Amino acid sequence: MKQTPTDQSHSSLVTYADLAGQVAIVTGSATGIGLAITSALLGQGCHVVMIDLDETALDRSLAKINRPNDTCAITGSVADPDIIQKACDAAITRWGRLDILVNNAGIFANFSSLELTLQDWQRTMDVNLTGTFVCTQTAAKHMVSSGKGTIINLSSIYGTVAAPKRAAYAATKAAVAMLTKVWAVEWAKEGIRVNAVAPGYVGTEGTLELQNQGKIDIAAIAQRTPQGRIGEPEEIANSVLFLASSAASHITGQVLGVDGGWTAYGYL
Ligand SMILES: NC(=O)c1ccc[n+]([C@@H]2O[C@H](COP(=O)([O-])OP(=O)(O)OC[C@H]3O[C@@H](n4cnc5c(N)ncnc54)[C@H](O)[C@@H]3O)[C@@H](O)[C@H]2O)c1
Repeated sequence: MKQTPTDQSHSSLVTYADLAGQVAIVTGSATGIGLAITSALLGQGCHVVMIDLDETALDRSLAKINRPNDTCAITGSVADPDIIQKACDAAITRWGRLDILVNNAGIFANFSSLELTLQDWQRTMDVNLTGTFVCTQTAAKHMVSSGKGTIINLSSIYGTVAAPKRAAYAATKAAVAMLTKVWAVEWAKEGIRVNAVAPGYVGTEGTLELQNQGKIDIAAIAQRTPQGRIGEPEEIANSVLFLASSAASHITGQVLGVDGGWTAYGYL
């Protein structure tokens, strides 16, 4: 494992030699954390099937990445079993294997519990929870038959600590943390490791939209974070690389907080 610090950001570039040539599916990969994870995996020599609901953003990111031999894009929802089957088939047809699934696609639902509509509740469940289940079940069938694989789920600080107006979101992220443990123990003997990353606030399009809607205050959040800043998508991507690599070979069923100290902090 070679480590080269960069001075451009708070993240560092680490090379995990075993990831080269592996095939990954990354959901919600047109923007934000998913795009950073995709770029990080490509940087390790992986091939990536990108899935996203937003075709325009997906096309834009594909053009920017410009790695047609190493990427493949599927437009559709993580909650649609046909789309996910298509993505798994694409990985196998194109590169003959499927090693890594990153369940990143997720939506925020910051509504007062008195005003949260059943439609918004259901939509959040569909994407964050059912989507994670559908992708995992479909990918795990390939992984079980090949006797190896690693799955990384995106939970959140709100999978373990509470905040007002997060009923649907927090419920899904807590469920994702528990699914991580269930699948880890269910498939450990099949050679599959399942872990989750639980980010604090990260600077992405999703976070920016919440800020623009007046639903969060990024300056206040940064101040409340022991490190004094929010995270960068690349910092979440780095933790995903570690968990996907053989450097984490004995780690399964864990939820790794990547939050600048947010959940450890018990003061103001
Ligand atoms: N940004 C944060 O502060 C933060 C903090 C904790 C956890 N997370 C989690 O990290 C993940 C990524 O967050 P982000 O900030 O990059 O989000 P984002 O909103 O910036 O990007 C999410 C991407 O997922 C796609 N998507 C949405 N619904 C989809 C669906 N049904 N099927 C396929 N794709 C879909 C969107 O089109 C978008 O490209 C989410 O699961 C989120 O809950 C984010």
